[in-house]
Amino acid sequence: VVLGVDLGTSAVKVSAVDQKGQILAQEAYDYPLMQPKPGYSEQNPEEWVNGTTIAIVRLILQDAIKAEQIKGISFSGQMHGLVLLNAENQVLRPAILWNDTRTTAQTKEITQVMGHEFIEITRNQALEGFTLPKLLWVKENEPAIFAQAAKFVTPKDYIRYRMTGRLQMEISDAAGTVAFDIAGQTWSKKIQDAFDLPASLFPEVIEATDFAGNVSKTYAEFSGLSTDTQVFGGAADNAAGAVGAAILQPNMVMSSIGTSGVVLKYEEHANVDYDGKIHFFNHAIPGHFYSMGVTLAAGYALSWFKKTFAAETDFTTMVESAAQSNVGANGLLFTPYLVGERTPYADGDIRGAFIGIDGTHQRFDFVRAVLEGIIYSFKDIFDIYDAAGAEFDTVVAIGGGAKSPLWLQIQADIFNKKVVALKNEQGPGMGAAILAAVGLGWFKTVQEAAEAFTEFGDAYLPDPARVAQYEQMHTIYKQVYRQTAELSH
Ligand code: XUL
Repeated sequence: VVLGVDLGTSAVKVSAVDQKGQILAQEAYDYPLMQPKPGYSEQNPEEWVNGTTIAIVRLILQDAIKAEQIKGISFSGQMHGLVLLNAENQVLRPAILWNDTRTTAQTKEITQVMGHEFIEITRNQALEGFTLPKLLWVKENEPAIFAQAAKFVTPKDYIRYRMTGRLQMEISDAAGTVAFDIAGQTWSKKIQDAFDLPASLFPEVIEATDFAGNVSKTYAEFSGLSTDTQVFGGAADNAAGAVGAAILQPNMVMSSIGTSGVVLKYEEHANVDYDGKIHFFNHAIPGHFYSMGVTLAAGYALSWFKKTFAAETDFTTMVESAAQSNVGANGLLFTPYLVGERTPYADGDIRGAFIGIDGTHQRFDFVRAVLEGIIYSFKDIFDIYDAAGAEFDTVVAIGGGAKSPLWLQIQADIFNKKVVALKNEQGPGMGAAILAAVGLGWFKTVQEAAEAFTEFGDAYLPDPARVAQYEQMHTIYKQVYRQTAELSH
């Protein structure tokens, strides 16, 4: 048995998985988000440790698994969070999370100081969510705390440290700090020097499937785990999600609808250049990479619509009602910029719109417009891939967009690609379990393990007539950003 620990933003979920990829038991534990000021988003790392430990204790208390059966543990982690530690590895301040936006000044400063060289090294633009701007924010705003800082890590790396007593940062999360040389696979000395950050602040980097240490005696006593259990690197949640959905070939792209939406592509080499227009990070597969674009409000846009206009219906009924409308929602267009947009605009101020409302429109047209609008925003990311000459033929849908046959077909028609869903989707926690299974040597490669642990369902194929209609709508959709930007800024 292996444990996959999925350390999310609202909860931690621990899954016990056997050698065939079957889930034996699962436990989750919620923790709060602290938002002491507008734009601030923090968590106390101790809450992660407690939540993870309580979930593990409960799993062991259930008779389904015994501590001695747990051979390995690995992780999927919320990305980019800053956990700052002193020389004794004690936490110096609450962790500043990926969705904290206090760092606009620091992102500007990074671009000013380093110019385009920053994108050449990190393959990403300096955005508020990433870790380096957070580190600079503490340096500038809390100098007394920064003076005590000896190391920093990202959230799941901190949990792994507490389990093993060994402090490392795993490579896919190191990439998400944007202080990392992606192609060189090492901390960037140029970035350290440009911002006067001591090299000693940056921990040792390990791969996702690397052995990190055994469960320490202290943590074994605390959790009931055995000191024979081996702990492995783990990965950033988006990388682990791709592993858990077996999207590990260049011809495949992931379309994931959670609160936010992600389009992610497996990249074999670092020599592809998207010029920072989409994120480019090191993957959980040693020596490989992934690129991704983010729609900030995907599932969130649909939940907002339901809460505001369809509170009395259940989710499935509401989504399926869109079948009563037509392709293109009878001319109604929706842009999902409810909380700004990441890709392709990196614009936190833009807001959404319904365009083309007609007196004959009914609620189901609005539902359809929302489903389509979210996918048009994904299509914008596909367009970046097209412009860069990236080739792929299959889209694997996960999350909310994979639960409805109607929404899967809309994706196939808007993307003009074959879309498949997984038969028994388990999310990034399964990716974490796969990384532990590979670390233990149960499988030779991450690909081999992912294929053994997952199964694809039916394929949805694009229909040429609908593809043509959606192309027209998407052309109009793309103009809405510019036309409404002035109203929103
Ligand atoms: C990715 C990002 C989010 C977090 C959520 O860049 O900010 O998807 O990974 O944990």
